[in-house]
Amino acid sequence: MKKVVITRKIPDAGINLLEEYFDQVKIISDGDFCNRKHLLNEINNADALLCLLTEKIDKDVIDAGENLKIIANYAVGYNNIDLEHATRKGIYVTNTPDILTETTADLAFCLLMAAARRIGEAERFTRAGKFKSWGPRLLCGQDIYGKTLGIIGMGRIGTAVARRGASGFNMNILYYDTSVPENLSFSAKKVELNELLTQSDFISLHVPLVDATYHLIGEKEFSMMKPTAVLINTSRGPVVDENALVKALQQKILYAAGLDVYENEPEIPRTLKTLDNVIITPHIGSASIETRDGMAEMAARNIIDTFQGKVPEQLVNRDVLK
Ligand code: GLV
Ligand code: GLV
Repeated sequence: MKKVVITRKIPDAGINLLEEYFDQVKIISDGDFCNRKHLLNEINNADALLCLLTEKIDKDVIDAGENLKIIANYAVGYNNIDLEHATRKGIYVTNTPDILTETTADLAFCLLMAAARRIGEAERFTRAGKFKSWGPRLLCGQDIYGKTLGIIGMGRIGTAVARRGASGFNMNILYYDTSVPENLSFSAKKVELNELLTQSDFISLHVPLVDATYHLIGEKEFSMMKPTAVLINTSRGPVVDENALVKALQQKILYAAGLDVYENEPEIPRTLKTLDNVIITPHIGSASIETRDGMAEMAARNIIDTFQGKVPEQLVNRDVLK
C-alpha cells in the first residue's frame, strides 16, 4: 500500500497520473487552505507529499512523515520547505522549473508594460466614467522600447524576461548575478548591483528567496534608482523591503512598481492598495492553464520516478544522493 498526500487540489493532469501508480491519493483540501493539523495527521503514513508554496513544510511536518521519500513542490521556488532537514532525513525534494519559465516571464513583462504605461490606473479611470476627452497629457507614462532593463538574477526566468526586452523592444540589457548565463541569444552586460540600480529604467527581480536575497532591495537601493525607474517583482515578496517600497512609491523616489508577490502573502499593505503608481496581482506568475497542467504532471512524474527507483529529474537537494 503506497500513499501520496496532496495538500490542495491541483489540476487533474497530475492527479490522474498519481492515481495510476498509488493505492491511495489523498487530497487534503479542495479549497484555498490546507489545514496544518490535518496535514500532520495524513502525512504520518504517507510515502510521498505533493505540496504547494502556500504550505510551510518545516521540521515538524517532515518529522511527522516517517515513511516520506519525496516532497514534490508544485512551484519552482522552494523556500517554503526546510531543505536541509529533508536532506538530513534522506528525503528527495523536487520543484517545477523550466515548464513555467516563459509563462512567468510573460507576466513579468506584462507588469513592466502595465506599470510603465499606467494601465491599472487607466483602467480604473475608464471604468469610473472619467474618460471625457482625449488629452495631450492624459495618463502619460514611460516609454519601454530602447530603454535599459536591469535583470537581478539572470537564471531561466530572468533570461527569458531579458530576451523579451532585447529582441522585442530593442532594450539595452544589464544584469546582476553571481554566475554568467550560457548561450545568450542577445547581448547583455554583467554589472555590479550598484551600477544596475543607477543605470536601469526598468529593474526586474528573478532571484530565489534565500538569506542572501532577503531585503536585497531596500531604502538604500531605492535611493540609488532613477526617479523614473520602474521595479518589477515576480520572484518572492521578502526580496524587497515592502515598507521601504511603499515609502519610495509614495514619495515618488520610484516612478512605479509592478508586483505579483508580497512579504506576507496573502496580506498586502493597505497603503499599497491605495497608490496609483503600483500595479498589483495575486501571485499569478505561472498561472496559465497549460503551464499549471504541466506543473501538475511534472510534480507527479517526480513522485512516480522516485518509486520506480529513478532519481527524479527535478531533484533540488542533490546532496541527498550522497
Ligand atoms: C511560484 O511562485 C513558483 O515558485 O513556482
Ligand atoms: C527560476 O527557476 C529561474 O531560474 O529563474
